[in-house]
Amino acid sequence: MRIITTVAEMQTLVRDLRAAGSSIGCVPTMGSLHDGHASLISSAAEQHGTVITSIFVNPTQFAPTEDLSKYPRNLERDLLIVAQAGGTVVFTPSVEEVYPDGFASIIHVGGIADVFEGARRPGHFDGVATIVAKLLIAMSPDEAYFGQKDYQQTLVVRGLVRDLGFACTITVLDTIREADGLAMSSRNVYLTEEERAQASTLFLALTTARDMIEQGERSVAKLEDAMLATLLMVPGLAIDYASVVMVSTLATIEVLPSGSSVALLLAVRIGSTRLIDNMICSIGA
Ligand code: PAJ
Repeated sequence: MRIITTVAEMQTLVRDLRAAGSSIGCVPTMGSLHDGHASLISSAAEQHGTVITSIFVNPTQFAPTEDLSKYPRNLERDLLIVAQAGGTVVFTPSVEEVYPDGFASIIHVGGIADVFEGARRPGHFDGVATIVAKLLIAMSPDEAYFGQKDYQQTLVVRGLVRDLGFACTITVLDTIREADGLAMSSRNVYLTEEERAQASTLFLALTTARDMIEQGERSVAKLEDAMLATLLMVPGLAIDYASVVMVSTLATIEVLPSGSSVALLLAVRIGSTRLIDNMICSIGA
């Protein structure tokens, strides 16, 4: 496995690989890898001769009050996980390499990035859009893989790629979950044992609403109330939002339109840990 730390080296390698006829898949990550990341890497490996996994804890997507300094980092373990999943290249630049002195350009994806996570975490999606653009320029992949776990992020990335004309396909893969339904996340290590047990309630809230939709419920207020009621069974859990919205615009609605798809979006805090999750549901005709 090749480990690359500079943008110049990365671009040279990509040029050489392409000249040798290899197609390139990439998986942008912030490291502290788990089976969710591994599933993206192994899916990319099924489609592409070269799979580049980037590992970079991106400071610009963390607010000053957030967990940048304590974000879990373990490069050696990550390299093993990448290799086992079939990755062939790891791109792990330093903060100075990505954001050298004088760096002053930020990408803002309008509309979709201003609601939900964007409203609660000001500047977060500007940081995500900027680093994803920089990584796509450095790795120049044919296809870039993202997880549905961060659903709004996938819409921001799709908007970025469409608007700026990046020549790569964006592929979004299913959320990988623990046995009790909790979406895998690098941040789950922050949970105490008790909080970890409580965290499966997010999945319960999503499946409760999904089941109601399957049984014919079309009122968004009733679905949101059911998610809230489920989440409120956990003492001390603070709800940021529990919303049902249109799947590609995140527009709010009152009644689920027949023949459409909607996204169930959750963000909560358990103790000091903020967790997000989502589920996409198709509405029958
Ligand atoms: P990170 O949280 O490390 O996630 C990297 C990729 O793995 C993202 O596309 C994310 O959606 C996906 N992922 C995380 N948990 C997953 C799960 N349980 N199942 C499936 N996929 C999962 O998201 C980021 O990093 C950053 O914002 C990044 C895009 C790398 C930009 O810095």
